Amino acid sequence: MPFDFITAALQSRAAESLLRKRVEVTNNIQAIIEVSGKHYINFSSNDYLGLSQHQDVLQSFAEGLSLYGASSSASSVVTGYSREHKLLEEDICEHTGMENALLFSSGFAANQALCQGLFQTSTPTNKKQTDLARNVIVDKLMHASFVDSAMQLSPEKDNTVFSRFKHNDMAHLASKLVPNSDTLIVTEGVFSMDGDQGDIQGIQSTISAQKSKAWLMVDDAHAIGFIGNNGMGSCDFASTEKNKKIDILMGTFGKAIGTQGAFLAGTNDLIEYMVNFSKHYVYSTAMPAAQARATRTSLQIMRQGVERAALLENISLFKKLAIEAGLPVLNVDGPIQGIIIGDPLKALALSEHLKSLGIWVNAIRSPTVPKNTDRLRITISAMHQVKDIEALVDALRISMSNIMGKDFSEQSNEKGL
Ligand SMILES: Cc1ncc(COP(=O)(O)O)c(C=O)c1O
Repeated sequence: MPFDFITAALQSRAAESLLRKRVEVTNNIQAIIEVSGKHYINFSSNDYLGLSQHQDVLQSFAEGLSLYGASSSASSVVTGYSREHKLLEEDICEHTGMENALLFSSGFAANQALCQGLFQTSTPTNKKQTDLARNVIVDKLMHASFVDSAMQLSPEKDNTVFSRFKHNDMAHLASKLVPNSDTLIVTEGVFSMDGDQGDIQGIQSTISAQKSKAWLMVDDAHAIGFIGNNGMGSCDFASTEKNKKIDILMGTFGKAIGTQGAFLAGTNDLIEYMVNFSKHYVYSTAMPAAQARATRTSLQIMRQGVERAALLENISLFKKLAIEAGLPVLNVDGPIQGIIIGDPLKALALSEHLKSLGIWVNAIRSPTVPKNTDRLRITISAMHQVKDIEALVDALRISMSNIMGKDFSEQSNEKGL
């Protein structure tokens, strides 16, 4: 049979308890989802601020639809680029301090585009093989959307060496820097699975100390809407000193911003280069103008800070209750909270048990996370009520006691979940 590796691959994933299955959500209101006729409090959504359901965001979407239609109907370099796209790019630049920005239909596309645009695209000027290869040095926990593309780079074909430094380990990063070679260092503002923050200032100091010719790129997919004084992410923690800034910022709108799509921001030249040479940008239909309009509204609401304050309160409440209950949550204070289980079957069993108690928390298994770090990934949102978070902690106690055989359950009985 043609392509019979497909069945074999599925069988092997199933045998290791690593097979993914989609669930059909039939309703999603506030933090409650309906699946197969049952309702669950959802602790597996990246809508950290609840903005995907904000009336003003929906209103802007509707206005955009009536002004521009449902599709942009062309690439941005043809007729797909509208006033709404331009206004959104300008808004991003104004509030991040970046020189220029470019929109993509997803964060996955933006990361791949950057990697391919800088390292794989042949232009009359970058084809020249210099003595020194270019370098892409990426934090070990960096997201697949960047790493998958970077891993394909080769010294022979692309004159580029890909390597990783240990998570937030500056000495290890320093050991990889090659003086005078064009180097891109990539990290995340808030790491998607562990929920901790990238050491932006550490990287900037390392670049300065080594007098390296390096650019720093930050993927702020989970940081935009959560960190920074105005919620605009890591740029707030970056020094504005020359050579000590973020050179390339990537942010997504499908998480805390509650819409869809992404941006890349950098110098005017970088953005113009991407408009000319990025295949993901040139050969793809632009995001709908309505989506750009709704996203701009959402960013404006986010910056006012009401939802962020509610999110921070919910995170503190969860941490307090989880620690009191002796739950082994990772030591981070963000919306992404992990409990490492270390075994895919047990992580799945826990997730199922939580469902039986009305709580939706997905099990995250390898290869999404490193082997033996399979976990429950819990996401807290501004939409959660105090009683939702109390119910989560009670359910975690009961499920962990049941599946892991360790007693977390005394107090949960008192509350009578
Ligand atoms: C760190 C990180 N970067 C990029 C992406 C991709 O973004 P998008 O979902 O918009 O494709 C994700 C999505 O999960 C992510 O977590």
